[in-house]
Amino acid sequence: MARYQPKDRFFNKAKSEGLRARSAFKLVELLQRAGIRGLAGAPVLDLGAAPGGWLQILADLVGPRGRVVGVDLVEIAPLGPNVVTLAADMRAAETLEALRRLAPAGFALVTSDMAPKTTGIAATDCARSLDLVATALSTARVLLRPGGAFLAKVFMGPDLDPFVARELRPCFEGFRRVRPEATREGSREIYLVATAFRPGR
Ligand SMILES: C[S@@+](CC[C@H](N)C(=O)[O-])C[C@H]1O[C@@H](n2cnc3c(N)ncnc32)[C@H](O)[C@@H]1O
Repeated sequence: MARYQPKDRFFNKAKSEGLRARSAFKLVELLQRAGIRGLAGAPVLDLGAAPGGWLQILADLVGPRGRVVGVDLVEIAPLGPNVVTLAADMRAAETLEALRRLAPAGFALVTSDMAPKTTGIAATDCARSLDLVATALSTARVLLRPGGAFLAKVFMGPDLDPFVARELRPCFEGFRRVRPEATREGSREIYLVATAFRPGR
């Protein structure tokens, strides 16, 4: 069985670089491997954003003229002037409405690192994770600009392939699954990376 190492090299690197979470390195790799660039000045949305590691990377990417909106169930300590955060549940209809008001012209990128509280029962954890990614995708379908990108974490389980084929794949021109180097050994997580959003599918 894989040994869980809470303070591995990514943890130490995040600490030395002033990043709030080691998962920031996953996002850097995902963006690079998907060829997602040119976001200077753009609005981007990050779901499941606490404590803010991904927000720090995204804030850097969009620069001072861009805007990053981060949502989480828990409060996020303030970041730079180009980051707005919201303590809210993404499954609630009013959260979608609040996000629509924050970015009436939509977002260029929607990311989700949302994860359920794990129970240790694989079937339950996978089903809850799939529910969250379905919520992230339905949010992206409403709030993404045409041509935008979507990137989301999910735990691998038996219902994932049908979800990708039926729900996600038709909405985007490009699609790949990526398991970043910083993902812990033995973890069920994988990232769905979709590019060139096609609205109305
Ligand atoms: C792995 S952490 C995210 C880490 C983050 N990407 C970072 O770099 O700091 C997963 C987050 O998903 C959030 N989450 C889970 N369900 C959610 C929901 N329904 N709405 C909003 N956030 C949710 C959790 O509160 C948790 O903070």
